[in-house]
Amino acid sequence: MGTQAAPATSEIAAVGVIGAGQMGSGIAQLAAAAGCGVFLVDSDPAALSRAVASISSSLGRLVSKGQLSQAACDDSVKRIKCVSDVQELRGVDLVIEAIVESEDIKKKLFVELDRITKPSAILASNTSSISITRLASATGRPSQVIGMHFFNPPPIMKLVEIIRGADTSEEVFSQVKSFSERIGKTVICSQDYPGFIVNRILMPMINEAFWALYTGVATKEDIDTGMKLGTNHPMGPLQLADFIGLDVCLSVLRVLHNGLGDNKYSPCPLLVQYVDAGRLGKKRGLGVYSYGRSSSSVKP
Ligand code: NAI
Repeated sequence: MGTQAAPATSEIAAVGVIGAGQMGSGIAQLAAAAGCGVFLVDSDPAALSRAVASISSSLGRLVSKGQLSQAACDDSVKRIKCVSDVQELRGVDLVIEAIVESEDIKKKLFVELDRITKPSAILASNTSSISITRLASATGRPSQVIGMHFFNPPPIMKLVEIIRGADTSEEVFSQVKSFSERIGKTVICSQDYPGFIVNRILMPMINEAFWALYTGVATKEDIDTGMKLGTNHPMGPLQLADFIGLDVCLSVLRVLHNGLGDNKYSPCPLLVQYVDAGRLGKKRGLGVYSYGRSSSSVKP
């Protein structure tokens, strides 16, 4: 159990974001735009370069729309320091982890974060489905570990789903809620069960769309058009899966399947095959749909 009080939200001045992929880059942008100093950490230097380019272009779009001054844009970019070593996070008040969706890898990172960061720091995970209680149990401060689940892309999507682990303190919950609101998000709160709220409901729908494609019910275009026009979704489930990342969808379904023990969550073989083939969705140029690169350029 953590013994030291975590900082009040007004004191959350320095934030560490680990993983500079689709989610981490957007989360770093939000924290910097809210005035925090941000350390953005990734083990892959190319991911950090891509993140800086994506943050600059995302903030640049706000400038060109007149929603942000050039000076505020420049200040936000300057507040983000890209680093490859988590040791840099010694002084941060809040860490938001957004690395690969693997419990073993995340747990190893939480062990390290617990050792490195100051005792009062809050450790949050952007996991789509993994148990916060289990991640927290890898640390000596389970009361200060919490789920902070953003949606893709974080600067645009208004929601943050906050997940309390079994030992998360009320104080940490309310600090993370206030911080989420400070960066412009609406908060919903979930207990710590596989997939939380949104993915518990969304992923079976995406999986069912794969089954419909796999069993020849319809073409991918008709499945997506059906769900867009028939249920008023802004995007069809197969296209949404491509945007999320097929590897992320598969990982979440496996967590639902293992955690809830019902075969209805068993991933469709077509989804598994796409991931095995390296068809991970929009981020790799090819998933259910092609995004301007040939399949031969996509490596498993
Ligand atoms: P991504 O594949 O775009 O980025 C992950 C990044 O983490 C990569 O740049 C990789 O180099 C880095 N990384 C991996 N292990 C690392 C380590 N040990 N230390 C430092 N960096 C490391 O993945 P994405 O889509 O950004 O997802 C990240 C997390 O966010 C996952 O847990 C995922 O489930 C969750 N998430 C994803 C959403 C989505 O729509 N893609 C939505 C909400 C949550």
